[in-house]
Amino acid sequence: DTVESVIVAIDGPAGTGKSSTSKAVAAQLGLSYLDTGAQYRAITWWMISNGVDVSDPAAIATAAGKPSIVSGTDPAAPTITVDGMDASGPIRTQEVSSKVSAVSAVPEVRTLITELQRSIAATAATGIVVEGRDIGTTVLPDADLKIFLTASPEARAARRSGELKGADVAATREALIKRDAADSSRKTSPLAKADDAVEVDTTELTLQQVIECVVTLVEERRDPE
Ligand code: DC
Repeated sequence: DTVESVIVAIDGPAGTGKSSTSKAVAAQLGLSYLDTGAQYRAITWWMISNGVDVSDPAAIATAAGKPSIVSGTDPAAPTITVDGMDASGPIRTQEVSSKVSAVSAVPEVRTLITELQRSIAATAATGIVVEGRDIGTTVLPDADLKIFLTASPEARAARRSGELKGADVAATREALIKRDAADSSRKTSPLAKADDAVEVDTTELTLQQVIECVVTLVEERRDPE
């Protein structure tokens, strides 16, 4: 039997190629795409812009429900708005990157964003590729396919500093390691591989190879022999 709508969860630390892979797989297979990191970045950007003390979990919890975050799920042109404003640029600053782990560790934030993610996944007609840290473990535990992407810290830092055009590789590596440690050690739904996830180490693979690997796995689940 062919599965009518397919749900793919792609988790892993920063710099493993999650976004590039997820967008390309969704586009090739005609699926929607959701970048859940962008949602946590958007709420973090709103907190910073509105003077919320992001070192104070109680202040974050109180403010969590105030911003309205809307994600567009076209893999060819993903969008994110906060209270109707385009947030795609401001969520990629270093300030947001350095504060997003603290904001996303607050349980009230995770509850709200997780509900949003589940409702988006439930309304995707043909299915969706959802990328993040806790998609396979917590947000969509019944996903048809779970992928956990990894890569060496050196490869991840090199890719990320390439994206940031000329950023210092050593500094990028330290920032990534710090963020992953925070994301992996938080109490509420930390970064973790689900027991039934397929782990793909991308260190020695090109982006094209990773995409092909995931597309093949989705097709196997969709239409098993
Ligand atoms: O994928 P990204 O690097 O843009 O994610 C930014 C941060 O958001 C990440 O450091 C931790 C948080 N995040 C999360 O807690 N859960 C997710 N599902 C996705 C991201």
